[in-house]
Amino acid sequence: MARREVLHCTLQALFVAMALASLYGVICVSCENEYISAVGDPGMRLDGLRLAIEAWNQCNEVGEETPNMGSPRAADCYDIYKASPQQGENRCSLCNSMPYMLVHRVTEEENRLGLGQPFLGGQQEAFDNVDRYAAEKELYLGNKCQVEDTPNPWQFWMIMLKNGNMDTYAAKCPNNGLKVGPYGPDSRFPCFGKGCMNQPLIYHNYTTLEGPKLKGSFYGSWNLDVESNENISYYSVTWEKELGKGSWIFHHVLRTSVKYPWLMLYFRADATTGFSGGYHYSTRGMLKIIPESPNFKVKFTLNVIRGGGSGSQFYLLDIGSCWKNNGQPCDGDVTSDVTRYSEMILNPDTPSWCNPNDAKLCPPYHTFPNGIRVHRNDTARFPYEAYHMYCSPGNAEFAESPNIVCDPYSNPQPQEILQILPHPVWGDYGYPTRKGDGWIGDPRTWELDVGRLSQSLYFYQDPGTPPARRQWTSVDLGTEIYKDPNQVAEWTVSDFNILVPKKY
Ligand SMILES: *[C@@H]1O[C@H](CO)[C@@H](O)[C@H](O)[C@H]1NC(C)=O
Ligand SMILES: *[C@@H]1O[C@H](CO)[C@@H](O)[C@H](O)[C@H]1NC(C)=O
Ligand SMILES: *[C@@H]1O[C@H](CO)[C@@H](O)[C@H](O)[C@H]1NC(C)=O
Repeated sequence: MARREVLHCTLQALFVAMALASLYGVICVSCENEYISAVGDPGMRLDGLRLAIEAWNQCNEVGEETPNMGSPRAADCYDIYKASPQQGENRCSLCNSMPYMLVHRVTEEENRLGLGQPFLGGQQEAFDNVDRYAAEKELYLGNKCQVEDTPNPWQFWMIMLKNGNMDTYAAKCPNNGLKVGPYGPDSRFPCFGKGCMNQPLIYHNYTTLEGPKLKGSFYGSWNLDVESNENISYYSVTWEKELGKGSWIFHHVLRTSVKYPWLMLYFRADATTGFSGGYHYSTRGMLKIIPESPNFKVKFTLNVIRGGGSGSQFYLLDIGSCWKNNGQPCDGDVTSDVTRYSEMILNPDTPSWCNPNDAKLCPPYHTFPNGIRVHRNDTARFPYEAYHMYCSPGNAEFAESPNIVCDPYSNPQPQEILQILPHPVWGDYGYPTRKGDGWIGDPRTWELDVGRLSQSLYFYQDPGTPPARRQWTSVDLGTEIYKDPNQVAEWTVSDFNILVPKKY
């Protein structure tokens, strides 16, 4: 063996030893302070984008496809190649004029796949079921976009659209996971008539490289037949990045209309397997490690350009998880699984519905960072203004009264929601402390101790059951414009990252 090879082998052995050592925490000196990223693309820096879009109806299903649009799942994933420089004389003039090449992994035809059209690896039974078709298509797109990584492969960021209309006479959505027949009218849900729960048009400008800039977009409307003089609903997400530099900038626009007054647009980091927040099918996403309370942080830059009116519940951050009321993890049984959400609403116009005169919209207690718990009936010490509202799961048998239960229709299973507002009690976790912080004209880079905050929040469990592991399979931000037509929200997101302790 030549000397150089020996050296090479020794080095290799050393690297293996170091890798093993760091795996067992031998090399890391102060392990508590060492964090790694839980997302596939830390800080949104990869030139080779991995992005998908999904659209949901009121109960997070498809219901019906929009003609010529296919199933509402699509992706923009590509690899970027650089032509290798030629030695000596210039033999490749094309390479010099176009030194970079984007090779897209998902074709237009694949993005348009819809009900009845089979694809490789798809479950036969799903091909003629409109809801399951979309779920299977997401897995298919995930396979095309997948990036191998440690400890797990990952697939894409997810743009999520949701139409809040519900046709109660169509009986499309279950009540707390149980199938129900037609009923109505129900003033809680907007609907202009038959077909109001439709999926949007989804147009796609594939990412291209123009000069030093990568750029692409998804955009469309929920209005399918446009009448004259009508302001139509609209959404767009445009992404832009300078080649080899900085972060992607995701620019979002959402506009509500008279027919579609309740719309949602979120940018999500979802689990790469299993369920994600509000989704009761196997999912694909960005979270190669699932962040778990109390040990994780979320970083990103948010620039709110237009707020979307007083009904815009702009989520600085929304985290979604799922566990049963007895603390066990969810298993897909929609009658006992409970989706748990917590959201920090940034819009300064959002009032505190939780207040001392009407404590039913407050969580039973608040826990301060020092561990001290204050009951909601303690009017001197409970921070009412830190909460927008709390609602308990529809299947909680021992919820403290008085209480209100969460909307039984808007998820495939019962849900629990805890919405918080900027307030000094959240300052310890890096969250906004004053109304208006981080709002229009005040773009900020946030570093939120979401893990510790979410550990301190109240969530329902049956008395005497072991506490659930709070594993957040969706971490997202964006807005839900709630029943308010002709409103426009506009914002950008960049530098997104989630940090978890290095123990993998
Ligand atoms: C998509 O591309 C078309 C054609 O280049 C352009 O006119 C349109 O503005 C683009 N849409 C978005 C939302 O970027
Ligand atoms: C407040 O609630 C706690 C717990 O339910 C109860 O023990 C206490 O008596 C209540 N205090 C008042 C003043 O209602
Ligand atoms: C269209 O939008 C504008 C601006 O928001 C509003 O003033 C107008 O009333 C809207 N028109 C209709 C028909 O809703």
